[in-house]
Amino acid sequence: MSDKPVIITDQATDQSLELPVIRGTEGDPTLDINKLYKNLGYFTYDPGFAATASCTSDITFIDGGKGILRYRGYPIEQLAEKSTFVEVAYLLLYGELPANDEYEAFRHDITYHTMVHEKLNTFISGFHYDAHPMAMMAGVVGSLAAFYHDRMDPKDPEHRALAAKRLIAKMPTIAAACYRHHMGWPVAYPKNKLNYCERFLDMMFSVPAEPYEINPVAAKALDLLFILHADHEQNASTSTVRLVGSTGANPYACIAAGIAALWGPAHGGANEAVLNMLNQIGDVSNVPKYMAKAKDRDDPFRLMGFGHRVYKNYDPRASIIREACHEVLDDLGVDDPLLELAMELEKIALEDEYFVRRKLYPNVDFYSGIIYKALGFPTSMFTVMFAIARTVGWVSQWLEQSENPTRIGRPRQVYNGPTVRDYVEISSR
Ligand code: SDX
Repeated sequence: MSDKPVIITDQATDQSLELPVIRGTEGDPTLDINKLYKNLGYFTYDPGFAATASCTSDITFIDGGKGILRYRGYPIEQLAEKSTFVEVAYLLLYGELPANDEYEAFRHDITYHTMVHEKLNTFISGFHYDAHPMAMMAGVVGSLAAFYHDRMDPKDPEHRALAAKRLIAKMPTIAAACYRHHMGWPVAYPKNKLNYCERFLDMMFSVPAEPYEINPVAAKALDLLFILHADHEQNASTSTVRLVGSTGANPYACIAAGIAALWGPAHGGANEAVLNMLNQIGDVSNVPKYMAKAKDRDDPFRLMGFGHRVYKNYDPRASIIREACHEVLDDLGVDDPLLELAMELEKIALEDEYFVRRKLYPNVDFYSGIIYKALGFPTSMFTVMFAIARTVGWVSQWLEQSENPTRIGRPRQVYNGPTVRDYVEISSR
């Protein structure tokens, strides 16, 4: 659909400029402001990039008003019900659902890249036992560049394809090794006869002293959570990966930067913060006190797992996870009072004018931790789980950018510092 341009006029000079309108296959129209500074001498100011498109992409579409999320056009609800995480990884990476032979070849490649260099385990053993696993992940994933420096040129298509598979395959291995270092257990090596989620559970929880039984309910729940967390267009960590990628940095540095960005409690760190918050609230009788804190501008407390920059409706992932909570906890025979507390908190918040007016709904992080906890993961590993899944999105977005490199990302600023002044000798200060 061709859109008429938007004309802006500078009232100070009476100069006008036609801004072309860019319209994608889905989503809101966007103004191309490329000529704004050159023609009218103005930058645009948009802290937090709330109204700024940083790139074009074919990968993931979100409609925040309608609560829609699609990977390469496929609704998240259908993928959650019918697909698997490895198949979704193929879809996000290559743009189409794989035929059987394509799927098997991809699954084989991912499976046979799960090992890491033994020296990486030595690196992990150097951390203090109580190091936060996200701190370890950011360091260790970045250090993969020290092992693969001969094949990580972002300009080389073969190197890009190999790095993509290596990262997706090795994230669970590294995550499990970080957890086991904390537990004081020996590393459990990947078993290639298992599928992606079974293998990760085995690497996490098996102990040498006895055989480890994979619980199919746990493996299926993990696969679902990984599908739901795989990509989410230009969120903070993905934008970080793209910005680092725009400098020509190697893929391991880009993904390590994404891990660091995801760790923040306003982003992927929220799933850990939600469980800590629910434990802090403790009982439904305390909900009113914490709701008041969440609404108090002078109180830093926020209802973690609530609100979203894009979703001004229910996060479709949160709906799916909330349903899965009941099934998984029932199947596992787990009775977690925190689930009831979370649902009561959601109910009260969604009836509260403060949350209704600001369109604050539960997001992907509100319920996910309850399932992770039921599967035996410690709270400190929750964001690591998010990072394992989001590596597929980060890598897909990095590939898309690397295939059509953009100029280096370099935002400008509004300078409010001191105007020019001369140096004063210390003797005169
Ligand atoms: C993820 O971007 C993505 O796609 C991210 C993600 C992904 O898949 O990659 O979806 C994953 O990061 C989900 C979000 C997880 N974070 C949390 O749950 C942390 C709690 N949420 C908030 O910090 C907040 O809602 C954000 C960070 C998620 C969104 O922040 P925005 O868009 O900058 O919104 P805002 O801070 O401007 O809030 C608007 C208003 C403010 O009140 P007023 O100034 O209008 O009075 O809503 C209030 C905020 O104070 N508000 C909250 C709130 N979230 C927003 N008040 C209480 N509790 C909250 N959780």
